[in-house]
Amino acid sequence: MSLIGKPVEEIPTPALILDLEKFQWNIDKMFKFAKKAGVQVRPHAKTFKAAAICNKLIEAGANGVMTQKLSEAEVLLNSGILYGDKTILISQEIADQGKIERVVGMTVAMGEGKVITSIDSLQEAEIISRIAERWGVKQDVLLEITHGRCGVSPGEDAVWVAKRLMKLPGLNFRGIYGYENPVEREVALVRDKLTVDTAEAIRDAGIDVEIVSAGSTATYEVTGTYKGITEIEPGSFVFGAGSEGSGYGWDAKNGVFFKNSLTVLTQVISDRHQDRVVTDAGLKVMSGGHRGTDPIVQIITDGEYLVPDRVGLSEEHGTLYFKEGNEERSRMRWGQKVQFVPNHCCTTVNQHDEMVVVKDGRVCAVWPVTTRGRYQ
Ligand SMILES: Cc1ncc(COP(=O)(O)O)c(C=O)c1O
Repeated sequence: MSLIGKPVEEIPTPALILDLEKFQWNIDKMFKFAKKAGVQVRPHAKTFKAAAICNKLIEAGANGVMTQKLSEAEVLLNSGILYGDKTILISQEIADQGKIERVVGMTVAMGEGKVITSIDSLQEAEIISRIAERWGVKQDVLLEITHGRCGVSPGEDAVWVAKRLMKLPGLNFRGIYGYENPVEREVALVRDKLTVDTAEAIRDAGIDVEIVSAGSTATYEVTGTYKGITEIEPGSFVFGAGSEGSGYGWDAKNGVFFKNSLTVLTQVISDRHQDRVVTDAGLKVMSGGHRGTDPIVQIITDGEYLVPDRVGLSEEHGTLYFKEGNEERSRMRWGQKVQFVPNHCCTTVNQHDEMVVVKDGRVCAVWPVTTRGRYQ
């Protein structure tokens, strides 16, 4: 039975809910900023995973999207989001020949310049080039500059590798990306300088560097206004960051604020005990605390934040514990709908087949989580 048109209270729980107005507010904020700053935005689709959201972002002015995985790129590509001059950038390196075939296959099928893949290894580059030559195409590549994960070292190392990439006939070198992680402003500035100086050093060697990509939700303002950065790649801003936010945002850095648009709707299924109430949403619908921590939730009920003394998540249960005297307990009753705000939006989205889109308290759409579970 269709949920469209139904009030939120009638949505069977647990369910992933997207508040359309807050989500749109976040998009508007990001793109207004980008327009003013004169920087492109390539949102990272590993966060939201839904083709419908990619479309919204492209409509808002994104120059394409980023994916972490090859299979995410394939699924989104096949969902029809790459209209016009939009491109997909795969941000994770690949070490498997069969997968490299698939990257180049996309370029063969869609035309050159639609799919860009990130590399840090000459071995990978040589395989890409060989396959591309076999097909008679050029594969676009971006060199990742490391700030602690994959990538070549900024500076001389990067110039050395870029020179070698230019010798491979099946490659089209488009530029570099140096994701600096969700760090404080001062650290982001240091890392952005390394990235931009590296782009300059590669240019000094006579190589065109068209794309210089970096930035996350936490650093979008710092990086988006840094001279020499051509595009930013934030992801979790669509779901919110800041004191009321989700994603990486609870420890929001640099005063970044977006509205919290993503919640898991749950229901109180047991209220027999004064020290606790139990809901029907547990780890299986809010997986993945950030950086190895247990998932943490913020709780909203009747439109207001609720502060229990502790939240315990097991597989299918979310238990809210109240110490004697905590008056919040009196707000809870059997059958009540409660919204959990998960602290890691990306992994939570990945737990759901679809997100229920709500406007003015009613369901207006159900968006499939198109790239759910695409890990390869
Ligand atoms: C390469 C890359 N770019 C951009 C992002 C987006 O970060 P955020 O979701 O914090 O905006 C990530 C997140 O992990 C990433 O790995």
